[in-house]
Amino acid sequence: MPKKEKKMKTKKTPVSKSVKSVKDKKSKEKENSSTERGRRTYGLLRGMHDILPKDEKYWKPMYGSAQDLASHFQFSRLETPVLEEVGLFVRSIGKGTDVVDKEMYVFEDKDGTKVCMRPELTAAAVRAYIMHGMWNMPQPVKLWYWGQMFRHDRPQAGRYREFHQVGFEIFGQADPAADAELILVAFNFYKDLGLPVEIHINSLGTPAERANYKNELVNYYRSKRSYLCEECRNRIAKNPLRLLDCKEERCQSVKEDAPQIINWLGAESKNHFMKVLEFLDELNIPYQLDSTLVRGLNYYTHTVFEVYAADAEVGSQSALGGGGRYDLLVEEIGGRPTPAVGMALGLERTVLAIKQFNEKNNREMPKQPVDAFIAQLGEEGRRITLKVINDLRGHNIKIAFNFFKTSLKNQLELADSLKAPFAVIIGQKEVQDGTAIIRDMESGIQEIVDQKKLVNILKRKLGKFDEKR
Ligand code: HAM
Repeated sequence: MPKKEKKMKTKKTPVSKSVKSVKDKKSKEKENSSTERGRRTYGLLRGMHDILPKDEKYWKPMYGSAQDLASHFQFSRLETPVLEEVGLFVRSIGKGTDVVDKEMYVFEDKDGTKVCMRPELTAAAVRAYIMHGMWNMPQPVKLWYWGQMFRHDRPQAGRYREFHQVGFEIFGQADPAADAELILVAFNFYKDLGLPVEIHINSLGTPAERANYKNELVNYYRSKRSYLCEECRNRIAKNPLRLLDCKEERCQSVKEDAPQIINWLGAESKNHFMKVLEFLDELNIPYQLDSTLVRGLNYYTHTVFEVYAADAEVGSQSALGGGGRYDLLVEEIGGRPTPAVGMALGLERTVLAIKQFNEKNNREMPKQPVDAFIAQLGEEGRRITLKVINDLRGHNIKIAFNFFKTSLKNQLELADSLKAPFAVIIGQKEVQDGTAIIRDMESGIQEIVDQKKLVNILKRKLGKFDEKR
């Protein structure tokens, strides 16, 4: 009897599934466009998303941290076009990878050139390094970037078709210190954002070492073929390293007993890897050795690593960022032999992880600090206030104001909610006298000052002695 019930259920599934998918499709269409007051409105393409003002509190600190780390570790900014020749990515990332085989936005340009919207930026950085003769510059050349990437993947939480990465690449340094430096930059990026992360790390050795290992892996997986999911059966011939990446339940026990690459590494590769780990120990960066970490792009040699949120769900399956060494790629793309290492961090996934972490831990993003709220009364007050706002900005005093709130009470309430230590009040009387009122928001004590001396008095009160910008 239970068997029969089960059978009936499975028979029904495709019908209900197809009804559901039609419904889903319809509601998707609705979500993307609708008719409002007789006019068609437009929505987003699948897998695309807007970054809204409400999320600025996540994006601004990320950019701030990236910029700060770049300047501290002496990376120079690289910007490359969104469109590149498709061959650049096919050759760098490699056939047989998901990115090249399934996910690239490729189209023919009007002149017939096959172009592609960049799925990542490492290959473009290598192109720029070669093309602009950066090998002639003192090495290492350290570059960083921030921008949109495009991958036509199946959208889900933390996976978009257009997403942002911040990336750091070091060219011309073979020393394991460079690998560790990049992991340190990634770790600090998340530390600045208050998100605990851990590093998963592995070594893929040299191509020769990897080839021997692949043979062993293929033999092992062939002997377990009947236990594998369909995708893995295809991977045996197509891209055997990716067998280790499979998340399917039925492949896990096979994966657990798979041969480990570390046993195929020669003395030099092992030594490089050990040195990277020693640096991480010295830097107190938490890491896990992960023999199944192979990365989804074919250009890596030696160290590979990924960053996972230590305490957020988005991190359990998908990495926040990743990178590694690609010592052969510059030569492969037509340049001189140049060791290189880099990493890129996914910003949408970072935002998701921070949101989850904050919710779990009852934490809020720190508010942007406001030094003074400028309150105005009447039209004259508003006119002078705009000039005062501009003067204060020129002296690096962070101000807030709201011209649409006309009552002083409302404006002071706003100043309070923004935690501004001071309010500057300019009403009709102050305009006539050439003065302004400085109100200490904590004590409520007010002081009338000459408008010409306002900047200096405020700077003194705020303890700001820095130079005029
Ligand atoms: P990747 O692992 O392909 O590496 O991407 C890095 C990060 O970008 C991922 O960990 C993830 O956070 C984010 N990411 C990737 N695909 C998506 C997606 N569809 N939606 C949202 N986020 C995504 C690279 O791209 C290499 N270029 C990294 C590198 C730099 N290696 C050496 N240098």
